[in-house]
Amino acid sequence: MVARTANPFKPTAGRMPPLLIGRDGVVEDFEEGLDDGPGAPGRLMRVTGARGVGKTVILTEFGRIAKARKWEVVDETASDGLSQRLLDRLAPDGPTMSLSLKPSVSLAGLGGVSLGEASVSSRRMPLTLREAMGRRLDALERRKAGLLVTIDEAQAADRDDMVAIATAVQHLIREERNVAFVFAGLPTIASKWLNDEVLTFLRRAQAERLGDIPLDEVEDAFVDTFDGSGMSIGGEALRKAVEATQGYPFMIQLVGYHIWRIAYRRQRGSGTGGHMEVGDADADAGVANALDRLGDAVHGPELDGLSPIDKTYLLAMAQDDGPSSTSAVAERMGKDVAYANVYRTRLIDAQVIRDVGYGKVDFAIPYLRRYLREHAACIRMNAAR
Ligand SMILES: Nc1ncnc2c1ncn2[C@@H]1O[C@H](COP(=O)(O)OP(=O)(O)O)[C@@H](O)[C@H]1O
Ligand SMILES: [Mg+2]
Repeated sequence: MVARTANPFKPTAGRMPPLLIGRDGVVEDFEEGLDDGPGAPGRLMRVTGARGVGKTVILTEFGRIAKARKWEVVDETASDGLSQRLLDRLAPDGPTMSLSLKPSVSLAGLGGVSLGEASVSSRRMPLTLREAMGRRLDALERRKAGLLVTIDEAQAADRDDMVAIATAVQHLIREERNVAFVFAGLPTIASKWLNDEVLTFLRRAQAERLGDIPLDEVEDAFVDTFDGSGMSIGGEALRKAVEATQGYPFMIQLVGYHIWRIAYRRQRGSGTGGHMEVGDADADAGVANALDRLGDAVHGPELDGLSPIDKTYLLAMAQDDGPSSTSAVAERMGKDVAYANVYRTRLIDAQVIRDVGYGKVDFAIPYLRRYLREHAACIRMNAAR
């Protein structure tokens, strides 16, 4: 039996890709922030971008960089109880008495008050969190290390949690502590948090908008990654593979994964002397599989997060083969332009579509037009419910 080689591509949310492509700029900004010390802009950062663009991966990379500098890394994902979880990780033995003068303690067995189980009221949380981070930093700074806190999916955070964390971080930054804070989320984070009076502090965070990756970098990465697993790709197969990704990171992994898989299955144990090559037909079949998966993984969830009228707007756009005129879209919707523009603006903010000038908009998510066309009947039916 021939030993199996593992597929090098990682088309799974949050998984580190075989090669981190096209992110040198943002990585440099972050490293510069760590090296320049307290007060450097790169120490307070917000990373935004569409689903599948690589936000979670970049947070993981930041964590790796910080750990290599002996920093402590606390990475959390926003969901209920975020600040409490953060606190539990910063002060695993529970807050000291001075920190929790009047905690709403959930008693873990009467008599034996386990402070590790203490939950802090939201009113007290900003101060408690600040003190816990401060204490952690006391220890870290003694060995010239720092603390990196990353919050993923920040658009889904509770306002109280966001206020507590922002307040704590703001004070620590003002005190010139050795801390860095990065939050990542969908582009809607801008309208959700950055307009909030209490959270103006977050607005000053250095904005890093993750976008598509230049195709020449995708090409180099494909050649290297296939090569590294004993398979060569070139010519027409490579051209098709690269083009199909449209530079969208999740699609890069999907296309790579499915092409690799098909080419591998075709040639495994077929006496090629161990050397395999991607053929044109492998590339075509791989791209087709990748597209199917992209719909389930990206387009479906993206549309689920939109309102029925948002979807009607998108369906009206999908009738065009290229950019759509906003007045034509309004007409197809049977609405006036002012009404349609409300949805246009919402969809632009969410980076589902983009303004291409001259009164036209186009899709900002790869292959969304195709998905909408294929699923139009089903989407319309659900929207009408
Ligand atoms: N810079 C990159 N180069 C290559 N692949 C990437 C890159 N960033 C992300 N990916 C891949 O894209 C997919 C989505 O990444 P993820 O970080 O989960 O996106 P997000 O958090 O923005 O939704 C994963 O399969 C990941 O391996
Ligand atoms: Mg993510």
